[in-house]
Amino acid sequence: MSHFQYQNGALHAERVSLSAIAAQFGSPTYVYSKAALLENFGAYADACQGRDALVCYAMKANSNLAILDLLARAGAGFDIVSGGELLRVIAAGGDPGKTIFSGVGKTVEEMRLALEKNILCFNVESIPELHRLNEVAGSMGKRAPVSLRVNPNVDAKTHPYIATGLKANKFGVAFDDALETYRSAAALPHLDVVGIDCHIGSQLLDDAPLLEALDKLIELIDTLADEGIHLHHLDIGGGLGVNYGAEGDQPPVPVGDYLGRLFARIDAWRADRHGGQPIKVIFEPGRSIVADTGVLLTRIEFLKPGVEKNFAIVDAAMNDLMRPTLYQAWMGVQPVVPREGDKLTYDVVGPVCESGDWLARERDLAVAPGDLLAIMTAGAYGMTMASNYNTRGRAAEVMVDGDRVHLIRQREHPADLFALESMLK
Ligand code: LLP
Repeated sequence: MSHFQYQNGALHAERVSLSAIAAQFGSPTYVYSKAALLENFGAYADACQGRDALVCYAMKANSNLAILDLLARAGAGFDIVSGGELLRVIAAGGDPGKTIFSGVGKTVEEMRLALEKNILCFNVESIPELHRLNEVAGSMGKRAPVSLRVNPNVDAKTHPYIATGLKANKFGVAFDDALETYRSAAALPHLDVVGIDCHIGSQLLDDAPLLEALDKLIELIDTLADEGIHLHHLDIGGGLGVNYGAEGDQPPVPVGDYLGRLFARIDAWRADRHGGQPIKVIFEPGRSIVADTGVLLTRIEFLKPGVEKNFAIVDAAMNDLMRPTLYQAWMGVQPVVPREGDKLTYDVVGPVCESGDWLARERDLAVAPGDLLAIMTAGAYGMTMASNYNTRGRAAEVMVDGDRVHLIRQREHPADLFALESMLK
């Protein structure tokens, strides 16, 4: 059940009306539901019950400390892509020992920090990266745990900007080069080869490509074992999609169904080839944990009838929520207090000086200036992708827990935005 529902004529987050939140905290504001967050993580945790499995939340989707703290307490590990994200994990009380480090461009400083903090594993994406990591670990008198991100060349059938498992992508080691790359890694003295990982893309609605990728990883793990390279974990990445609610959209496969099928496949393989000995399984979900836990609350400043189109100009913009303009993503728009009356078709746009500054197109709405709108399913890749373009402070973030509202990030003010700048002396 969604934790954003209409009650007494107004859209609520759990038991708090979004109107009350706008009155207290202003707009634009990201509003999250704690119950939704724990429910989404719980779907993964339940499916992993009793198994050697770790859910490493891909925090690029939403890295607010309050969210990390709640997930860490629920048992999550983390998938990070920068030293900054590792510092966030630590600041939120997360466990570096349950943290994996993805990304194609890890710097020496980031590697050093991650080794100092004893992270669980580096997901390495290239041979030069293996050599750099080997050197950094050697200089610290340590051995770095590594997994290779293998590119299974599976078509994830998603938007090209978020498909990552094809040969033409910058990510991972090509499947055909994987064996050779593993041999190189195993020969380096300061690396411990412990795992294999992949991530084929994001917003996948069907688990068939994920299971296809799993089969490729399984094949490789067996080939490596025949060579004496024994892996301790298998990391299938993230990627499971969510329902953004556009008409005719296919609903995503439920988390439990996908994990059930995946574990069944793994169990059959282990029984067949490895005497039933289990292998640790890691997941890196981002969107499916946070997307439907958040909305972006925004107020209509003006209604502007146009020659060809009507515009609802709101106080949120592309700098607050990049997904529509960057991926032509469809996001749901709901009036916080619906009104009677005829609907008109609007493009919902922000005040930024770009034609690409739109949040939703051609929506039928009965609205008036001053009305609040909620941009739905905005908890993933919303705030984390926000910028300060046009010297716009980033939105406030609040989290609702039952009938309580917690401010989890203050709104930025213009002075914050230029505080680090200086003029020539
Ligand atoms: N692991 C790796 C290595 C990744 O690159 C990603 C996402 C994830 C896990 C988490 O994937 P998820 O479960 O969230 O699909 N900004 C885009 C999505 C970019 C995804 C980048 N990588 C969007 O707003 O649609």
